[in-house]
Parts: sequence; structure tokens; C-alpha cells
Amino acid sequence: MDGTIGGGGHSRLILEASSPDGVVYGFDRDEEALRAVAERLGGYAGRLRLLRKNFAELEESLAEFEIDRIDGFLLDLGVSSHQLDRGARGFSFQQDAPLDMRMDFSTGVTAEYLVNNLPEKELARIIRDFGEERWAVRIAKRIVEARRLFPLKTTLQLVDIIKGSIPRAKWEDRLHPATRTFQALRIAVNDELESLEKGLVSGINMLARGGRIVVISFHSLEDRIVKNTFREFAKGCICPKSAPLCVCGKVPQLKIITPRPVLPRNEEIMANPRSRSAKLRVAEKL
Ligand SMILES: C[S@@+](CC[C@H](N)C(=O)[O-])C[C@H]1O[C@@H](n2cnc3c(N)ncnc32)[C@H](O)[C@@H]1O
Repeated sequence: MDGTIGGGGHSRLILEASSPDGVVYGFDRDEEALRAVAERLGGYAGRLRLLRKNFAELEESLAEFEIDRIDGFLLDLGVSSHQLDRGARGFSFQQDAPLDMRMDFSTGVTAEYLVNNLPEKELARIIRDFGEERWAVRIAKRIVEARRLFPLKTTLQLVDIIKGSIPRAKWEDRLHPATRTFQALRIAVNDELESLEKGLVSGINMLARGGRIVVISFHSLEDRIVKNTFREFAKGCICPKSAPLCVCGKVPQLKIITPRPVLPRNEEIMANPRSRSAKLRVAEKL
């Protein structure tokens, strides 16, 4: 199962490697991505099933195909290069567009709604917790001041407010000042961390013995969730050491294959700068 099929690059390789009869279930919340991948991987139509679903719903979605076990589960998190480059969706702080940021644009609230309606404290919490932005309180304050004058509609309006909130001398060298706030809003709009927590647990439960889960994450909040979930499932008995007998009955369900995350090599970063923050972790079902 590819939980984040996007442009289909990974799925194509999985289809090749599992030829002639491996079947891939490809999930994505983004209808545009699915339409493009259906065309791109049309040659594998018999072995590829596409679902416009959140990967967090994998158990109920696969039950419709009477599937209760999977041999592999891949998540390549975040937004795709296509979504970033197609400025119209509002993910990019480089291009002017409506402040949308929904991966599934058929449902849910937009970034525009959040910045224009959330109380200042809640905005600051989102920007701090999901963006790990130390200037969150100032940014939220400036957003609320600006929206009293006019509703915030576009990405570049927001970029200007963020730039004005962080003292110029404190801008980081290789990080656009809007990076963290945009990340935070995107995570909030798409409930990304909740989906990840739920998807990981369901995916691990559905893995067949010997099956592998592979997760590529792009920021520390995601990586922490992956690391901790793998550890939790890799743990055996959690009874206190003083207990004469195990009463918890907990047995390890995962073997961690990558105690440290795999990072991209320099050549990969040169060829694809967006890979620079990627961390890959792998575990195997026992
Ligand atoms: C980094 S891209 C994946 C690229 C893909 N691995 C490839 O080879 O082209 C992430 C994709 O996952 C989708 N996505 C993110 N979170 C999702 C979720 N919770 N459920 C389903 N799809 C999700 C996004 O819409 C995006 O298309």
C-alpha cells in the first residue's frame, strides 16, 4: 500500500519490483494527483487500485476490497512537488494564490478561514506547535491587527505580515521567514499529525508478518511521531521490573530496521533540493 501516491514515482518502482502479480493500493487525498497518476501509471491498471482517501482510513477503505492484510506500507509525507509548484493551491509562499492549502479541496476549512477567524491565542499556538516558530506570538498578533483592516485572502498578503513580524536581523540564512508559518497552517488545515498517528497504528496492525512499513517525513514533528510509534510497537513487556511475572501480556510487534533515520546523500540533495530535510525510517512486522 502506498498511502501517499502523489506523482506515482514510488508506486511505479513497487509495481516493477512486485511484477508480475503484485497489487498496489494507492491512496491520495488530492483528486488532481490521482487523475494524473491514473494516466501516468495507466500501463499497470490491472495491478494498481487508486483511492481518493486519507491514508488514516486505510482499514475501512481496504475492507471494501476484502483486504485485511498488506505486505508493505509506504508513507512519503507532506505535499508533493506538483502541489507546491502549482501555486494556485496556496501551499507555496513564493507564488501569489488564494490561501487555501487543502490537499482534499472538496472538504474541510481553508487556511483563509483559519487566519481570519481563529482567536489570536489559538493562531499563536498553531504557529508555535506545528511550525516550531519562535516568533509565533508576534506573527499571530500582526495577523489579527491586519485582519481588522481587511480580510486576508492571499498567500503573499500573509507573507508580508510574517516578514513584518520577524526582525530582519533574525531571519535565518537558508530559510524563508514564512516557511514555518506556512508549514503550521498546512498541518492544521489538513489535520496532518492526527492522520499520521492514526495511519501508522492502522498500517502496523494490518501488516502481514515480515511486511515492512517505510515512512519518509520532512520535519521533526512528523519524525518524532514515527520514531515513538515504532518504539512503542517494538516494546515487549512493560511490567515493573519488580513484578515476579508478566501481567501486561505485551509482546513486541515490530522490529526496527533503521535505529537511526536514513538521510539523503549529497548527490541526492543536489539533484533534488527538496529532499534535504527528508528522514526515512523502516520497521518490520514480527
Ligand atoms: C510527497 S508527496 C508523495 C510523492 C510520491 N511518493 C511520488 O513518488 O510521487 C505526498 C502526497 O501525499 C498526499 N497526502 C498527504 N497526506 C495524506 C493523507 N493523510 N492521506 C492521503 N494522501 C495524503 C498529498 O496529497 C501528496 O500528493
